[in-house]
Amino acid sequence: MNLKKALKNKLEPEELELVPRAFDIIGDIALVEIPEELDKREKLIAGTILKVHRNIHTVCRKMGMRSGELRLRELRVIAGKATETVHREHGAMFMLDVKKAYFSPREATERQRIAEQVGPGETVLVMFSGIAPFAVVIAKKQPNVAKVYCIELNKDACRYAGDNIRINKLGHKIVSVCGDVKDEAEQFYGKCDRVVMPLPKEAHKFLPEAIKCLKGTGTIHLYHVAPEEDMFTDAVKLGKEYCRKAGKKCKVTGKRKVLLYSPRNWKVCVDFKVSG
Ligand SMILES: C[S@@+](CC[C@H](N)C(=O)[O-])C[C@H]1O[C@@H](n2cnc3c(N)ncnc32)[C@H](O)[C@@H]1O
Repeated sequence: MNLKKALKNKLEPEELELVPRAFDIIGDIALVEIPEELDKREKLIAGTILKVHRNIHTVCRKMGMRSGELRLRELRVIAGKATETVHREHGAMFMLDVKKAYFSPREATERQRIAEQVGPGETVLVMFSGIAPFAVVIAKKQPNVAKVYCIELNKDACRYAGDNIRINKLGHKIVSVCGDVKDEAEQFYGKCDRVVMPLPKEAHKFLPEAIKCLKGTGTIHLYHVAPEEDMFTDAVKLGKEYCRKAGKKCKVTGKRKVLLYSPRNWKVCVDFKVSG
């Protein structure tokens, strides 16, 4: 829905200018950015969303950027009540509380892209796995995957990961571990064909563990944040540097712009084939 269009006759033209064109939808919850100049209009905006989008039952206002280790942001409910929901994506279901665990519906295409690369018989580790969307999408898209292991720090996200493994009937394929990657990765050393590292600003710090998790040869998907004018140099350099330190060879096999992270900064992914 174009929010500006829906509010056209309800706001002054200068107010309308400030309304975001779109907003995120997770399950039956809308998450909207409302600038402070429109503080007095938030109820009108929320009411309009509920009226136009009959399957939305809660509207949350984003109160700032994501922060901290758990990558959460403050959300204020401005219409409705419940912040727990079930989101549907390409035939998968994800249960979560939008206030308690990270989830981005904008990363659906990226999840599909990673899942498409997974071959039959592979063992995959998803570090920083949140409510387990990567793991579920991988196990659904590649039913012959050997195992998908997940490691996540946020206890609420771990609980939802357990729910999501169960409701998607993937208990025989996905194993979820609640804890810090620094402490938990060791149990997977030498066991994996592929490691997914979706923690954009910090993932590179865990490359030593990711490299050790691979069998002789394997793939690492490293997420990173970089400025628009030079999106991949830093991530490529980091990947190569850590491989060299570990005595491994590594080759870049893919580079992808995932989504806009902040003004002029992009979340990117670089895929590495590690061997030796
Ligand atoms: C950007 S979110 C990605 C979550 C999930 N992979 C997804 O795509 O929805 C990063 C996640 O990493 C978790 N995290 C941060 N540091 C961690 C660590 N050292 N060990 C395990 N998990 C960590 C956070 O709690 C958060 O859920």
